[in-house]
Amino acid sequence: MKKTNVGILFGGKSTEHEVSLQSAKSVMQVIDQEKYEIILIGIDKNGQWYLCDQTGFLLNEDNPKEIMMKHTGIPVTLTFGKSAQQLVCFSNPIVYKHIDVIFPVLHGACGEDGTMQGLLKVANIPFVGPSVLGSAIGMDKEVAKRLLRDAGIPIAKFRVYQQWEEDQVNFESIVKELGLPLFVKPANLGSSVGIHKAKNKEEFIYAVHEAFTFDTKILIEEFVEGSEIECAVLGNEKPIASAVGAIIPEQEFYSYDAKYMDEKGATIQIPADISKELVKKIQELAVKSCKVLCCEGMARVDFFLTKENKAIINEINTIPGFTKISMYPKLWKISGIPYSKLIDRLIQLAQDRFKREEGIKDRY
Ligand SMILES: Nc1ncnc2c1ncn2[C@@H]1O[C@H](COP(=O)(O)OP(=O)(O)O)[C@@H](O)[C@H]1O
Ligand SMILES: [Mg+2]
Repeated sequence: MKKTNVGILFGGKSTEHEVSLQSAKSVMQVIDQEKYEIILIGIDKNGQWYLCDQTGFLLNEDNPKEIMMKHTGIPVTLTFGKSAQQLVCFSNPIVYKHIDVIFPVLHGACGEDGTMQGLLKVANIPFVGPSVLGSAIGMDKEVAKRLLRDAGIPIAKFRVYQQWEEDQVNFESIVKELGLPLFVKPANLGSSVGIHKAKNKEEFIYAVHEAFTFDTKILIEEFVEGSEIECAVLGNEKPIASAVGAIIPEQEFYSYDAKYMDEKGATIQIPADISKELVKKIQELAVKSCKVLCCEGMARVDFFLTKENKAIINEINTIPGFTKISMYPKLWKISGIPYSKLIDRLIQLAQDRFKREEGIKDRY
């Protein structure tokens, strides 16, 4: 049987470049090479694309603090309109490659936020994960929260400020409305980068300033006291929800270090030790959120569960972490879909959606 050519995109320009390297490493370890011909494409921090060698595409791969993309590949780019030869490799002589489907193992800006999805759409290549709109919505914490609120899904109270409104950020009035402590976060980032918990005015001013160095728009949220629960969703028209997991951070909150640097930074409990009824409620909310936020293919929906057992949605991740310690693959494993089968399903879903959209004349 002819193998499917799968382009794996990793790295990228975002602050989550290193996380993507770890995710790509895990995907490469489990993807079924009997079924798929892998075309490994690394994007460096400047946004330049390279065709990478599968054996040794990373440096310091076992050290999350020093992991790096190896810079030995051939520069590549996509062509548009050539349905059988979408990838141009600037080797001597120039080589064209055919890609059946792309798996963007990218996190954050220019990877997970709809921009890459737009590029792949224009290049006419099926790709894993939500499409342009769902990715863009999922990335923007303000827009996602507004839509969830509109659908009656519980969220934390928040205020939003643009960079040019920084002088209007008034600590006293915000505390009056949202209380203390406050969470301050860039609107379009992930992996806890630029996020601070502020317990007083001094910390708040610092947090606001810091968040604005990462984004032109920030969110200030009420603090939600509760455990952190995550649920994975998979599917296009009829998405299904996985078992749910809990995260118990060892630090103040689930920080970047706790997520990727320090294996002891957080304890992961799979499945979460909560009642069946609550699990069902969370699964329903997770699927509903994906529908409301136009996310097809895959997503991980993150919740806070308060002491009163109220589930509040914190955020959605449209390209969740795929590292060896990541929740998304772990949740599916315990739900009966092992990692390599999960990749098969994701690739199939990408191709199904592409076919469905192809059937709609003139739109794509
Ligand atoms: N409103 C909040 N109340 C309590 N903790 C929060 C709140 N917002 C964020 N956190 C903590 O910060 C972490 C990262 O925030 P999150 O909004 O999920 O951003 P990211 O997209 O970077 O993961 C969460 O996992 C949680 O530990
Ligand atoms: Mg999060």
